[in-house]
Amino acid sequence: MKKVLITDLIPEIGVNLLKEHYDVTMNSSGHCMTKEDMIETFNNYDGIVTSLTNPIDEDVINACPNVKIMANYAVGYNNIDIEAAIKRSLIVTNTPDVLSDTTAETAWSLLFAVSRRIVEADRYVRNGDWKRFSANLFLGRDIFNKTLGIVGAGSIGRRFAEKARGYHMTLLYYNRNRDLEFEKQYNATYVGMDDLLSESDFISLHVPLNEETHHLIGEEEISLMKESAILINTSRGPVIDEDALIKALQEKRIYGAGLDVFENEPQVPEALITMDNVVLLPHIGSSSTETRDRMSELVAHNIINVLEGRTPITPVTV
Ligand code: GLV
Ligand code: GLV
Repeated sequence: MKKVLITDLIPEIGVNLLKEHYDVTMNSSGHCMTKEDMIETFNNYDGIVTSLTNPIDEDVINACPNVKIMANYAVGYNNIDIEAAIKRSLIVTNTPDVLSDTTAETAWSLLFAVSRRIVEADRYVRNGDWKRFSANLFLGRDIFNKTLGIVGAGSIGRRFAEKARGYHMTLLYYNRNRDLEFEKQYNATYVGMDDLLSESDFISLHVPLNEETHHLIGEEEISLMKESAILINTSRGPVIDEDALIKALQEKRIYGAGLDVFENEPQVPEALITMDNVVLLPHIGSSSTETRDRMSELVAHNIINVLEGRTPITPVTV
């Protein structure tokens, strides 16, 4: 019987699918596998379900020539050295599309929470600080009729754009390539990054992390933003230069930020923790029961397809 390793807990639905065909081991220790663990054990398996917490570099890949597929339980695959995988014909899959609406909803949740100061106000009520209705209690920023800047017009960026309907917003987008279909469908205008930064009231990042997007938003970019701008990041932490963002927030050079991802997860800088104009989430962009089940099923079907000699459903290609 072929063997499959799941490096971290995933919802049962996918585990059960895999168990119908294979001898399945799941790491339920609550600890991430170390590089040494991976190098030592991976080669005992035919397929592996990997997690974002597994940095899979060339050493790990070269240490497991028997493994046919690594099915990453995430849409992002910046944790895997794809070139090294391709070099040795290791198939890598991810979980695109099934999580796009949920992640877009997380971005919207952050946008609402920051602009209407929801979390801060909730803390105020819980602290027993609320004494009476007051005309200037927690004045926030309106969302409707504003300009929304979307960075990245992929699957998540599209779902995010779609959900702006009803708020009568002006949509600007930046993408590596202009996307006429996106423009038509969401009534969005393609602009350069500088224009997007300087004209948008809300800026939401939906790009993958790679060499081009590392620190895409740094000091210079932030300096172009409006003082009333709100920055939302549900992509990957290193897309923003976190130190530059902290400085800008401290100096109130922008209104606020909603962050689901950080440069050195799970570490969140103390400076952010003490700020009221940010909302911080523990990387839960795709975390709904329904979507996590769909991701679990998708990784299982990718593994089954490859181990049964068929093509994977959602391979990572370059
Ligand atoms: C989560 O961050 C993902 O890439 O799916
Ligand atoms: C506020 O509650 C209002 O009635 O305007």
